[in-house]
Amino acid sequence: MKVCRRETFNAAHRLFRPEWSDEKNREVFGKCSHPNYHGHNYALEVWVEGEIDPLTGFVIDLKDLKHLIHEFVSDRFDHRNLNLDCPEFEGIIPTTENIAKVIWDILREQLDPKFGLEVQLSETEKNKVFYNGK
Ligand code: NI
Repeated sequence: MKVCRRETFNAAHRLFRPEWSDEKNREVFGKCSHPNYHGHNYALEVWVEGEIDPLTGFVIDLKDLKHLIHEFVSDRFDHRNLNLDCPEFEGIIPTTENIAKVIWDILREQLDPKFGLEVQLSETEKNKVFYNGK
Protein backbone atom coordinates (compact mmCIF):
# COMPACT_ATOMS: atom_id res chain seq x y z
CA MET A 1 0.00 0.00 0.00
CA LYS A 2 1.16 3.53 -0.75
CA VAL A 3 0.34 6.70 1.16
CA CYS A 4 1.14 10.27 0.23
CA ARG A 5 1.86 13.59 1.86
CA ARG A 6 1.72 16.72 -0.27
CA GLU A 7 3.71 19.80 0.69
CA THR A 8 4.53 23.01 -1.13
CA PHE A 9 7.46 25.38 -1.11
CA ASN A 10 8.53 28.43 -3.07
CA ALA A 11 12.01 28.79 -4.44
CA ALA A 12 13.98 30.76 -6.99
CA HIS A 13 16.27 29.33 -9.61
CA ARG A 14 18.03 29.91 -12.87
CA LEU A 15 18.69 27.21 -15.44
CA PHE A 16 21.93 27.85 -17.26
CA ARG A 17 25.30 26.47 -18.13
CA PRO A 18 27.98 29.04 -17.32
CA GLU A 19 30.12 27.93 -20.24
CA TRP A 20 27.32 28.68 -22.72
CA SER A 21 26.46 32.11 -24.12
CA ASP A 22 23.31 33.89 -22.91
CA GLU A 23 21.84 33.21 -26.33
CA LYS A 24 22.49 29.47 -26.18
CA ASN A 25 21.12 29.31 -22.61
CA ARG A 26 17.97 31.13 -23.73
CA GLU A 27 17.59 28.75 -26.63
CA VAL A 28 17.83 25.65 -24.41
CA PHE A 29 16.26 26.80 -21.12
CA GLY A 30 13.89 29.56 -22.30
CA LYS A 31 12.57 31.93 -19.63
CA CYS A 32 14.10 29.78 -16.90
CA SER A 33 17.54 31.01 -18.00
CA HIS A 34 16.74 34.66 -17.18
CA PRO A 35 19.92 36.03 -15.55
CA ASN A 36 18.15 37.63 -12.56
CA TYR A 37 16.46 34.42 -11.40
CA HIS A 38 12.72 33.82 -10.91
CA GLY A 39 10.50 31.85 -8.57
CA HIS A 40 8.23 28.83 -8.77
CA ASN A 41 5.61 27.43 -6.43
CA TYR A 42 6.72 23.83 -6.16
CA ALA A 43 4.29 21.09 -5.18
CA LEU A 44 5.91 18.00 -3.75
CA GLU A 45 4.19 14.64 -3.28
CA VAL A 46 6.03 12.11 -1.17
CA TRP A 47 4.72 8.57 -1.57
CA VAL A 48 5.65 5.93 1.00
CA GLU A 49 5.03 2.25 0.34
CA GLY A 50 4.76 -0.36 3.06
CA GLU A 51 2.52 -2.72 4.99
CA ILE A 52 -0.37 -1.53 7.15
CA ASP A 53 0.74 -1.69 10.78
CA PRO A 54 -1.92 -3.84 12.52
CA LEU A 55 -1.60 -1.79 15.72
CA THR A 56 -2.18 1.65 14.22
CA GLY A 57 -3.81 0.90 10.87
CA PHE A 58 -1.21 3.24 9.29
CA VAL A 59 1.48 2.48 6.71
CA ILE A 60 3.34 5.45 8.22
CA ASP A 61 2.01 8.15 10.51
CA LEU A 62 1.49 11.02 8.04
CA LYS A 63 2.20 13.50 10.85
CA ASP A 64 5.69 12.01 11.13
CA LEU A 65 6.11 12.15 7.36
CA LYS A 66 4.96 15.79 7.35
CA HIS A 67 7.56 16.68 10.01
CA LEU A 68 10.27 14.85 8.10
CA ILE A 69 9.45 16.76 4.89
CA HIS A 70 9.32 20.08 6.74
CA GLU A 71 12.57 19.57 8.60
CA PHE A 72 14.67 18.18 5.76
CA VAL A 73 13.09 19.61 2.61
CA SER A 74 10.68 22.56 2.94
CA ASP A 75 12.59 24.38 5.67
CA ARG A 76 15.75 23.88 3.65
CA PHE A 77 14.51 25.10 0.28
CA ASP A 78 11.49 27.34 0.98
CA HIS A 79 12.13 30.99 0.02
CA ARG A 80 15.68 30.15 -1.02
CA ASN A 81 17.55 30.69 -4.23
CA LEU A 82 18.42 27.12 -5.18
CA ASN A 83 21.46 28.16 -7.24
CA LEU A 84 22.96 30.54 -4.69
CA ASP A 85 21.74 29.42 -1.25
CA CYS A 86 21.67 25.65 -1.47
CA PRO A 87 24.98 23.74 -1.65
CA GLU A 88 23.02 20.66 -2.76
CA PHE A 89 22.81 22.29 -6.20
CA GLU A 90 26.43 23.28 -6.57
CA GLY A 91 27.36 22.17 -10.06
CA ILE A 92 23.83 20.81 -10.65
CA ILE A 93 21.27 22.67 -12.76
CA PRO A 94 18.14 22.98 -10.58
CA THR A 95 15.67 21.57 -13.07
CA THR A 96 12.55 19.89 -11.69
CA GLU A 97 14.24 16.57 -12.44
CA ASN A 98 17.34 17.39 -10.41
CA ILE A 99 15.38 18.94 -7.54
CA ALA A 100 13.24 15.78 -7.30
CA LYS A 101 16.37 13.64 -7.24
CA VAL A 102 18.01 15.75 -4.52
CA ILE A 103 14.81 15.57 -2.43
CA TRP A 104 14.53 11.81 -2.90
CA ASP A 105 18.17 11.34 -1.82
CA ILE A 106 17.60 13.46 1.30
CA LEU A 107 14.40 11.65 2.30
CA ARG A 108 15.79 8.20 1.50
CA GLU A 109 18.51 8.79 4.07
CA GLN A 110 15.95 9.76 6.72
CA LEU A 111 13.26 7.17 6.07
CA ASP A 112 13.28 3.67 7.54
CA PRO A 113 14.66 1.34 4.82
CA LYS A 114 11.61 -0.93 5.21
CA PHE A 115 9.59 1.69 3.28
CA GLY A 116 9.54 2.25 -0.47
CA LEU A 117 9.84 5.90 -1.49
CA GLU A 118 8.73 7.88 -4.54
CA VAL A 119 8.57 11.61 -5.05
CA GLN A 120 6.60 13.66 -7.52
CA LEU A 121 7.44 17.28 -8.03
CA SER A 122 5.63 19.94 -10.06
CA GLU A 123 7.10 23.26 -10.98
CA THR A 124 3.92 24.44 -12.68
CA GLU A 125 0.36 23.15 -12.94
CA LYS A 126 1.32 21.55 -16.23
CA ASN A 127 4.68 19.88 -15.56
CA LYS A 128 5.44 17.07 -13.15
CA VAL A 129 8.32 14.66 -12.64
CA PHE A 130 8.45 11.35 -10.83
CA TYR A 131 11.48 9.75 -9.18
CA ASN A 132 11.78 6.51 -7.24
CA GLY A 133 15.54 6.08 -7.26
CA LYS A 134 15.67 5.67 -11.01
NI1 NI B 1 12.07 28.26 -13.88
